Amino acid sequence: MDALPISAAAKEFIAQNYKKPDWATGAISPFDASFLYDLITRERPKSLLEIGVASGTSTAFLSSLIESYGRGKSHLHSYDALPYFYAKHDIECGAFVKERFGKLPSNLTLNLGVSSQDIPSVVRGQKFDFAFVDANHDHPWPTIDLLSVIETTAPGSWVALHDINLPFLSKQFPCYGPHYLYEGWPGDKVTQIIDGGIRPNIGAIRLFSTKEESIRAALDCLAIRWQKMLKAEVVTAAESIIRRTSEALADDFLAVAARRNVGGANNLAMQGGDIRLTGFNAWSRLEGSPWLKPFVLHANPVGNVATTLSFEGLQPDGHRRVVFPAVKRCSEASDDILLKIVVRGANGDVLESKSVVFQDDQPKMLAAALPTGSAEPICVDVTVSVPDSATKIRGAWLHFDPVYCS
Ligand SMILES: C[S@@+](CC[C@H](N)C(=O)[O-])C[C@H]1O[C@@H](n2cnc3c(N)ncnc32)[C@H](O)[C@@H]1O
Repeated sequence: MDALPISAAAKEFIAQNYKKPDWATGAISPFDASFLYDLITRERPKSLLEIGVASGTSTAFLSSLIESYGRGKSHLHSYDALPYFYAKHDIECGAFVKERFGKLPSNLTLNLGVSSQDIPSVVRGQKFDFAFVDANHDHPWPTIDLLSVIETTAPGSWVALHDINLPFLSKQFPCYGPHYLYEGWPGDKVTQIIDGGIRPNIGAIRLFSTKEESIRAALDCLAIRWQKMLKAEVVTAAESIIRRTSEALADDFLAVAARRNVGGANNLAMQGGDIRLTGFNAWSRLEGSPWLKPFVLHANPVGNVATTLSFEGLQPDGHRRVVFPAVKRCSEASDDILLKIVVRGANGDVLESKSVVFQDDQPKMLAAALPTGSAEPICVDVTVSVPDSATKIRGAWLHFDPVYCS
């Protein structure tokens, strides 16, 4: 994974050109706009696709940005499913663009009332060389949006995703779609470095050199339990997009969709087993189910039993990985913290073991493979400890966002 620091040129451009009306909600922030500036001025795309207009804050910003280097040669094609602003139905979708420029700029085509899965039939063929996706954030919607991007955008292009850390930055919005897509993407990706350890909320993934590879990566993401059911017509539209590239991948997609894989942000089917905490000390916190609530595991002092959270008697039920979407070391920790994840079979055999050292407070996403094709229950042990050399255990804890399976 690559990361872009905010450039001086981005700061200067944002100071002049980033504007957001008081009435806008859900819009990109100045940090997000800086990331778009740095990535887009590096790539200099000529034909950009935007999915999700709302107030028009990002649309107005992108229009002024492409004009700054494209000078009439770059064009923005923005789409929104609604003709009106989702938070105030008496305001037109994209109203801020006209408010800001007095009229629609000539480098912008605004397409309202078109949902993402219908974009390929409106566009016909490959038209774009950059995409910005900022629409419905409930999983699997961003991945459904991505299927349309894959169909209409040149292979190898960058696709910026907004709100990749939304559930961790705003607990009232547990929408994991952009996070799953960004974190799970197996190809090139880039996010932002913000001074002061502020967590970025925007990133970009790069489409593979063939549509098949990109669709396969999207299908892996679709295997994660869905937060919202899709209407039949959305599934049918997504299927026909994939079928234009590969019959076999379209059949794989239908098999995933047919599992009706819906159940909140986390894997409810896996909750059946027991949860056991050993080596527990006063600072570890488990408030409710680790499938649904964040939790804290505090390492015990050297020589004592390490803190282990065991998920016992789990049925993999077709899932391939147990995922710890964000694990973060306490910023006050005075030493490295060690995390070990072990997957054991019914007879206690170790099937997978993974160790990670936390040397700073950057959150990490971790996953351990689950056995496939076995009906035997399994156990996952999560152990937190400090190295033998550690002299203090002040702040020796890791914060975990809720666990899920994919
Ligand atoms: C978070 S807002 C976009 C904010 C905007 N990008 C900005 O920064 O100013 C999300 C928008 O996506 C639109 N949307 C949701 N689902 C969509 C879909 N399937 N296709 C197209 N637009 C969609 C909503 O109507 C809403 O206007």
